[in-house]
Amino acid sequence: MKHSIPIPLERTTITEEVLELLDYETYYISIGSDLGDHLLVNRRNAINLATNNYLGLANDPRIKAAYIAAIEKYGISMCATPIAGGYTDQFEAVDAALSPFIGAECLLIYPSCYQANNGLFSAIATKDDLVLFDRCAHSSLIQGIQPVGCRKYPFGHNDPDALEYLLQKKQGYKHVFVVTESVFSTEGSIAPFDEIYRLCMKYGATPVVDDSHGIGVLGAHGGGILDHFGIQDYAGIYTTSMGKAMANNCGVVAGPRHVIEYMKYYSSHLVYSTAVSPCVLAGILRTLDILAEEYDERIARVYRYRDAIRASLQSAGYIMASGAAPINSVEAGTSINTIRLSRSLYDHGVITTPFVYPSVPKTQGRVRLIAGANLSEDTIAHACEVFAMLSEDVQTEEPCA
Ligand SMILES: Cc1ncc(COP(=O)(O)O)c(C=O)c1O
Repeated sequence: MKHSIPIPLERTTITEEVLELLDYETYYISIGSDLGDHLLVNRRNAINLATNNYLGLANDPRIKAAYIAAIEKYGISMCATPIAGGYTDQFEAVDAALSPFIGAECLLIYPSCYQANNGLFSAIATKDDLVLFDRCAHSSLIQGIQPVGCRKYPFGHNDPDALEYLLQKKQGYKHVFVVTESVFSTEGSIAPFDEIYRLCMKYGATPVVDDSHGIGVLGAHGGGILDHFGIQDYAGIYTTSMGKAMANNCGVVAGPRHVIEYMKYYSSHLVYSTAVSPCVLAGILRTLDILAEEYDERIARVYRYRDAIRASLQSAGYIMASGAAPINSVEAGTSINTIRLSRSLYDHGVITTPFVYPSVPKTQGRVRLIAGANLSEDTIAHACEVFAMLSEDVQTEEPCA
């Protein structure tokens, strides 16, 4: 008899009702194009408000050319971990260009930020340490703390007073880490990282900030959260993804040189995983060149589009999160309402991202909309017409809990 692999059904969190609605492909939508002004979804053109292509660089011909040139020079893959043959000369070039951009001393490149965050704490923390984390921190950070076996406590979301209370109360640990994201992407809020950083310095704790949704979006030059708050000589750990505004694909851990040198040999998630492909590293370098020239114009457009979409959704009767980042987030309530709204938008040719439990607390479902700088003014205007058209449906939905 064929063996049937057991599935832990008790972990299922999506209700039957929601599953029924999922037949329209809320998740894993099949895309047949690049991230141009429109997406090709199931052979139909759609407006893309779902991806994190903030600056609109994901199909930039100059970055594509950099990828192709790197493939010609280095091939497709080094087929080796960075420590054992995968470390092309581009890694040092990326370190030299990207570290000053984000405001860190030096950095390491991981295959993804999920992997970077996931392996960070097992490399730098011990079971005698304490980790305090924002209760809404990304899964990759929280999952990464687990294997250390140390004490960990969540603090109130974006709440420095709650953090200070814990820093005062929880004494006697060998070392304390304080973990947060810079931009919480389901709602678009920006962490009060200046305050969090100050508290870390006051209490001798090490800050860890995940700037995945801040890099390329915050700061005078797009450098991210440290640029945004003008933090110099950063005495903490910084992680980020290159797969969002930076329009490439890999993760970064940055910090003081002695920590990074240590992690080069003691971070298993780096040491035992195939090095990032050379074309990706070439793409990051080209992206940085482009941002040096075009950041101001691109980011101005991103915020202009955010404002237009927010105003339109608000006047259509939707309740919006008030985050300062270039993200719009409709507070859609229950999972069913969240999926339903996203589905209506999909039916009208607008692709968005619905977040339901466990990505957000139960009854705090969100529909996220991010408009990239490459979308045309007409496309944004069309999306706004769709929101206005759907506004009648809003009145008929159950109220948010
Ligand atoms: C806050 C945050 N951290 C980390 C990640 C993971 O980044 P990557 O896609 O590079 O693995 C994401 C992506 O969803 C994210 O939103």
